[in-house]
Order: sequence, then C-alpha cells, then structure tokens
Amino acid sequence: MMPVGPLMIEHRLIERMLKLMAEEVPKMEEKRGANIEFLSEAIDFIRSYADRCHHGKEEDILFRDLAPKPLSPEHKKVMNELVEEHISARKMVSRLVDAKNLYARTQKDGFREIITSLRGLVEFYPSHIAKEDKNFFIPAMKYFTQKEKDDMLQEFCTFDKNLVHEKYRKMVEGYERK
Ligand SMILES: [Fe+2]
Ligand SMILES: [Fe+2]
Repeated sequence: MMPVGPLMIEHRLIERMLKLMAEEVPKMEEKRGANIEFLSEAIDFIRSYADRCHHGKEEDILFRDLAPKPLSPEHKKVMNELVEEHISARKMVSRLVDAKNLYARTQKDGFREIITSLRGLVEFYPSHIAKEDKNFFIPAMKYFTQKEKDDMLQEFCTFDKNLVHEKYRKMVEGYERK
C-alpha cells in the first residue's frame, strides 16, 4: 500500500463523522438546545483523530518529507494551502470548544456559536479532503522512491502506535497541573 492509502481511509471515517455532525445541527436548532455529550465526543474525534492522528501524519511526516523535494510550483502552493487549512480548522474547533463550555455553564449562551462552528467545520472538511484526494496525494507520491514510500508507511504505523499513549499521558499531566 502507498502511504497515502491510510490517509485516504482516514478521510472516509472523517466524512462519516462530519455527516453525523451535519445531521446534529437541525436537531439542535429544532430543540433550541445543544447536545453536550455529542459535542464533547465530536470535539474529541476532531481533535484526537482528524487533527492529531490524521493531520499529524500529513504534516509531521508526509509534508515534512515533501518539503525538501523539488516540488512543482502548483504542488508547493497546494501543500501550503493544506497547512493553512489545518490551522484554520484548529481555530474553528477551538471556537466550538469555547462555545460548548460556555453553553454547558449557562445552558443558553454560546448556542449560536456552536451552530456556526459546527456548520463551519462541516463545510470546511469536504473541500479540504477533496483537494488532498483528487489533486495532491497521488501526484505527491511521484516525488518518492519505493524505499522512501515503504519507510513512510512504516513511520505512519509507529506514529499511530504512539498516539494512544500520548493522549492519555497528556490527560494525566493536565490533571496533575490543576
Ligand atoms: Fe489535511
Ligand atoms: Fe487529510
């Protein structure tokens, strides 16, 4: 399998979660109330899976190894856009977290912001994923030798293996600091 194989498989799960998030918006609007439990799980999914696990492999491994390659101006431009888009996605999630926390405290404030940030994320990801799947991942593989691709796939596995340990170590450290 090419290293972009696992990334594309991860895109499919992200799409399924986004569909659930999109479906939650009208439900919350109808009830005029936020589903805090669902939001907490969705935020954990976006932060731990879509951002740390998935964008992590893209940025820390794939983009890192592409950076020194003689990329075409178009591929360089797309890679920079993808990095910028990851940054803006993180900001959207932070806004959602703040709004969710505010709503959880007050049971009313933050509701509009929850809906706006959810809509923002649901609108953002499909075009980002399409850009990677259709315009970048496969052509990007041409810059690597077979050995480099095999090593990248191996590094992806090691990266994934460490994630659960990293997540729960950070959780413990967070509580210890309080
Ligand atoms: Fe990405
Ligand atoms: Fe991606």
